[in-house]
Amino acid sequence: MSDLLAWLAALPLAGVGLWAWRRWHHPSYWLLLGYPIAAISVRTSWRRVALGCGLTKKRQRWWFTTVPGLIASTGIVKVKRRFQRVAVDTKPFMWLPLPTRHGWRVTLHTLEGQTPGDYTDAAERLAHSWGVHAIRVSSPGPGRVVLAATMRDPLVTVDQLPPSTDLLKVTVGRLETGGPWVVDFKTVPHWLNAGATQSGKSNLANALIVGLAPQPVALVGIDLKGGVEFTSYAPRLSALATCRDEAGLLLDDLVALMLDRMGLCRQASARNIWQLPPALRPLPVVVLVDELAELYLMADKSEKDEIAKTSTALLRVAQLGRAFGIYLFCCGQRIGSDLGPGVTALRAQCSGRVCHRVNDPETATMTLGDLDPAALASARAIPAETPGVAIVAGQDGHWYRARSFYVSEQRAEHAAHTHAHLTPSWEEITAHLPEHANA
Ligand SMILES: Nc1ncnc2c1ncn2[C@@H]1O[C@H](COP(=O)(O)OP(=O)(O)OP(=O)(O)O)[C@@H](O)[C@H]1O
Ligand SMILES: [Mg+2]
Repeated sequence: MSDLLAWLAALPLAGVGLWAWRRWHHPSYWLLLGYPIAAISVRTSWRRVALGCGLTKKRQRWWFTTVPGLIASTGIVKVKRRFQRVAVDTKPFMWLPLPTRHGWRVTLHTLEGQTPGDYTDAAERLAHSWGVHAIRVSSPGPGRVVLAATMRDPLVTVDQLPPSTDLLKVTVGRLETGGPWVVDFKTVPHWLNAGATQSGKSNLANALIVGLAPQPVALVGIDLKGGVEFTSYAPRLSALATCRDEAGLLLDDLVALMLDRMGLCRQASARNIWQLPPALRPLPVVVLVDELAELYLMADKSEKDEIAKTSTALLRVAQLGRAFGIYLFCCGQRIGSDLGPGVTALRAQCSGRVCHRVNDPETATMTLGDLDPAALASARAIPAETPGVAIVAGQDGHWYRARSFYVSEQRAEHAAHTHAHLTPSWEEITAHLPEHANA
């Protein structure tokens, strides 16, 4: 009796201990307790779940029965012989689930006639069946799909911006998979960053400023919100344009700079500035554009030529800039084809895509449209309470849900002031350009 009481008293204590373990050291809790339970439950429930989610196929199997009458009595099959062909539901073969930082992942062999799309369509049903936050489907090769489950939304809280170590590479946030969200201009030179107001676009630009400020890089701002976003970072900006006229002049400079670098590379028989000897290599330039749509909006016909000129210059920078160390990061609330063909052509050059919460489906389609339709659905489902959450495509050709690290304006401003001494002046950068020589 006293033993029973002792056990009963120990139960709540064990419960509290488990809760504390899970709360304070989730990685070890997950690895030693959570994951094994989840793996057993996924394996044992797979037949039922696959059947419920429509992922099974009927297959003919030989059925052997020693007591034919027994089966006949159930009324399911009428047995006349000892061996007979019956149709059974077969589930896709499942390997052992493996633990990941925020859940588990498992490889499946698809059944004949199935595509990864069938699993993507069933992803929500699978997530509900297993009681997990989300299931993401990917296909490592023909006939294989990988289901990656996240137990809770890993993007509710993300940690602090880590310092950047590599040139032109900034870890700006965290992916849903738990991996880092990296903006690496050397791999993906131009980025399109779309989102409704207050969705986190400027926060991402702040993260880039903090990451790039200590690096030997020239930062240039085109802030068509009249300069309200980037003016406070001016100490670290080599040039800042705050209206369309200034943006036009700055883009002309950038095109001239690009042509100059082209000549330099040609003389040295290099294909890009990275193949030049370090002594000759010019500084990379990162151009941050805020409120992109303002470059294309036309109040009356008289602005048509000016817009065509600026948009062509921006497009030339996007087309040729990569080899000559000029990189674009364009932010905008609306990036629709109604802004003109210039935007559509620019989009084609920007392989890095970030789509925050958007108001209109067209911006999501324009930003992510040529990816998976599931990416579009995911972008439109981003709630307003989680600014900084975005759908990201870039480095590896896949899309991810991700969230940027929170970087306040004060922090970016502090970084801009601290590293102001690293700012090359625009005159210095453009000094040897023909227009400047004549000026
Ligand atoms: N990753 C994040 N984590 C937490 N809060 C964030 C994050 N990103 C943005 N925020 C918050 O959301 C608010 C809006 O962000 P931000 O200014 O970047 O939006 P925006 O898209 O640039 O809006 P606008 O179009 O009006 O300029 C900010 O005040 C910031 O505090
Ligand atoms: Mg903003």
